[in-house]
Amino acid sequence: MTGTPDEKPMKGLFIRTYGCQMNVYDSERIRDVLRPLGYAPVDSPESADLVVVNTCHIREKATEKVYSELGQLKRMKEASGGRMTIAVAGCVAQAEGEELIRRQPAVDLVLGPQAYHKLPEMIARASRAIGDRLETEFDTVEKFDALPKTREADGPAAFVSVQEGCDKFCTFCVVPYTRGAEMSRRVDDIVFETRSLASQGVREITLLGQNVNAFHGPAPVLEGGEDWRLGQLCRHLSKIGGIERIRYTTSHPRDMDDDLIAAHGDTPALMPFLHLPVQSGSDRILKAMNRGHTADHYRDIIARVRAARPDIAIASDFIVGFPGESDADFEATMQLVRDIGYAIAYSFKYSSRPGTPAAEMHGHLPESVKDERLQALQSLLRAQQTEFNASQIGKTLPVLVTGKGRNEGQMHGRSPYLQAVHFDGPETLNGQIVDVKIVGASLNSLTGELVRVTEAAL
Ligand code: 5AD
Ligand code: SF4
Repeated sequence: MTGTPDEKPMKGLFIRTYGCQMNVYDSERIRDVLRPLGYAPVDSPESADLVVVNTCHIREKATEKVYSELGQLKRMKEASGGRMTIAVAGCVAQAEGEELIRRQPAVDLVLGPQAYHKLPEMIARASRAIGDRLETEFDTVEKFDALPKTREADGPAAFVSVQEGCDKFCTFCVVPYTRGAEMSRRVDDIVFETRSLASQGVREITLLGQNVNAFHGPAPVLEGGEDWRLGQLCRHLSKIGGIERIRYTTSHPRDMDDDLIAAHGDTPALMPFLHLPVQSGSDRILKAMNRGHTADHYRDIIARVRAARPDIAIASDFIVGFPGESDADFEATMQLVRDIGYAIAYSFKYSSRPGTPAAEMHGHLPESVKDERLQALQSLLRAQQTEFNASQIGKTLPVLVTGKGRNEGQMHGRSPYLQAVHFDGPETLNGQIVDVKIVGASLNSLTGELVRVTEAAL
């Protein structure tokens, strides 16, 4: 604990986040929930009174990392004379519950993704050594109601959760079990949170949800009170003063409705970037995955999105080596990638997750086959990403400046297509959208030259 006699004593908080952007958002909200209790972020777990490990269960590797991190924390806790409290949050907490405390007794608290608003109460109980150390109930509505309505912005770009959970039950995936049923947040609350962020200088929001385009909910009364879907929500949020860029992630092909596609054409604030995971290009595998669409259905959605917004950058997720995947199935995935042309994509070897239907299927493939396919796919995707980045050379792009670059006098930011952009410019540009002429490109970033800024910007 630190603090001078006339200050409220501060307690150090360290949050380690694994996994998806939803976990990044949840970690920010955990910080918000703990702030009134006097917890302030510290740079390393050694100096923390409370360490929260926000975990990911999606693949076996992600789960293993959590246990090795907990082993290290146990040693730090012993070195601190037991002062450190260790809390495990997120999807491993939800899935493994008490097993986690059994496997790693140094863990004080376990809370699932729908329970982190209960953390203050749990900490109080733990300090008095009474009551439950485990909270894994599903009550997303209660969680959102209990969270502070305003947010403290951290830079010009922020996440806003609009939807949680998943009812799709893809046969390989743990999310429907760890995050619960699909649920949309109230439009009023989303607007309130976005306004609060905009008033602190946030220019870009990314709407988050496990199935973000499954979002739906009644519009505010002044807007007619009808049931809105994501396209209408984006149009509405784009009218909030200061919000110049809107993104959303991650979406599902089945929920890519006509109005959302139209919004890409009629809402300039909606950025030209769509992350639409397809997982496989083989209809047989898509069926076994329970994706609810074919490869051609996906091609058709992309064609319609491109008709609405021709420059849109397309991103995706792929799984190789799903049980029963043949050479021909894998080739269908490669063909789909060639047909679409991706700006960026994430690809994974199938990882068997206990309790999911695919874990029980026949035809699990040897690691060597999965490795070979992953390498072939990633090399194609890398070539497409390099080509997409190179296609920006010579263009002038509006770049949202998000901070200082690595080199002296350098700033970095992001393009409309979510590429990292580095350029020389003054620090005063931080948080602004400036024109940058792209002069170089690599696999992971662009370099550019500042074109013009008004004097007011400097
Ligand atoms: N094995 C491999 N990859 C998986 N994903 C989800 N579950 C698994 C699994 N069991 C991938 C999907 C999803 C991304 C977030 O993680 O591609 O879109
Ligand atoms: Fe998992 Fe499928 Fe739901 Fe995505 S849509 S979270 S892959 S079950």
